Formats: sequence, structure tokens, C-alpha cells
Amino acid sequence: MTKRPLRLAPSLLSADFSDLGAAIREAEAGGADAFHLDVMDGHFVPNITFGPALVAAVRRCTRLPLDVHLMIEEPARYLEAFAAAGGTTLVFHLEIREDPAVVIDLARKLGVDVGAAIRPDTPVDRVWPWIDRLDQVMVMGVHPGFSGQKFIPGALPKIQAVRERLDREDSPVDLSIDGGITTETARETARAGATFFVCGNSVFGHGTVAENLAALRAAVHQGASDAVR
Ligand code: DX5
Ligand code: ZN
Repeated sequence: MTKRPLRLAPSLLSADFSDLGAAIREAEAGGADAFHLDVMDGHFVPNITFGPALVAAVRRCTRLPLDVHLMIEEPARYLEAFAAAGGTTLVFHLEIREDPAVVIDLARKLGVDVGAAIRPDTPVDRVWPWIDRLDQVMVMGVHPGFSGQKFIPGALPKIQAVRERLDREDSPVDLSIDGGITTETARETARAGATFFVCGNSVFGHGTVAENLAALRAAVHQGASDAVR
């Protein structure tokens, strides 16, 4: 059983870009533990979002950890810029052509935390060679590219497999789930062993941010306590 805190990271991709500062303050006041920033290059994924300048602007609005999700083909080339912009954890994808060892070593040199993500079509085994050198493993619950998609249940056995391995080794590595998180899937993924929950539409897509965060927090705690029973 993990001793890590359960954390909620609103994904700014679902926030109003015309008033990002207000969205950040609202989520922070509502109990966000971190922010998730989706960087997309139009190559690794079909969509294009933003780069280091926006991460730096977000950093000026909050002191919470910034989880920077690099959906880009050449993360090593940009790691230094995202570290300088104030990223706390830089998460790259294991499907890229670059050697993960190079990306991990560079992140260490830059003094930032490093995470590795897998898409829904990537087997969880791809994580094992790197797991001891990471701060975070990110399992994706949707095909990367867009917020507001439906959770793909195949993420659950992957979370369970990573959780079993981390617990066996008494490892403090954070286990993140990104994509399709609702109160229902928050509970299921917490039960499966996730500790870090990226939430886009379920935080910013409807209702009020503070109420959405409270409902998600209740759901992850419920899921984690289901797991203990
Ligand atoms: C998808 C992104 C996600 C996305 C999550 O490519 O990596 O972070 O913003 O949004 P929701 O929670 O709406 O699925
Ligand atoms: Zn993401």
C-alpha cells in the first residue's frame, strides 16, 4: 500500500486560456495540489498547444508544482527550456525515438524531477527498464492530444501492475493517471493504485472548480480506502 499522498492536478488545457491567471487562482483556492501542463508539438500528437513561455507565465501565478507533460518527439532538445521556465516534473513519452536514458540523465543534471508516460496502446512492460530511475510513471487513460475524451479501461490493469511493482520494491515513485478522469474513474484508478490524478474537463468543464475538486478528492480517498479493504 502506497504511503504517498493522493494529489489532484488540474490540467490547464481545459481552462479558459483568455483568463488563465483566474483559472489558476480559482483551482489553487479550491485545493489543487499541482497543475498539469500539456505541451504538444503537432508531430507526436496531432494537436499543437504551447511551449516554455506559457509554463513560465503559469509559474508566475502559482508556487504549486508544475507537472509538464511533453507530448513531443524530441524532449531532450527542450528539457532545459522547460526546467528554466519553472517546471517541477518533466514527463516524456516512452514511445519517442530518443533514448529514455538520455532524457532521464539530462533531467537529473538540470535538477528537475522526471516522469515517463505510456499511451493506451503501449504495453506496461515498456516502463520496467526505467522505473528505478524515475520520479513518476504516467499511465494515459486516453489517446494523447485532446482533453474531454472518454477513459479507456485498459489503463486500470496497467496501473495495478505498476502499483504492485512499486509496492514490492517499497518505491516512492508517483503513479499518475492522465485522461478521462471523472469522479467515477478517479475512484477506480485510486483503487487500482494511482496517486496523482490529472483532471481537465472534470475540473474546468462544468460547475464550479472548488466543488469539482472536492468531489474528485472524495472519490480518490474512497477509491484508496476500497483498496485497503
Ligand atoms: C490529453 C492530455 C490530458 C488532458 C486531460 O492528451 O494529456 O492531460 O488535458 O483532460 P481530461 O481530464 O479532460 O481527459
Ligand atoms: Zn496530459
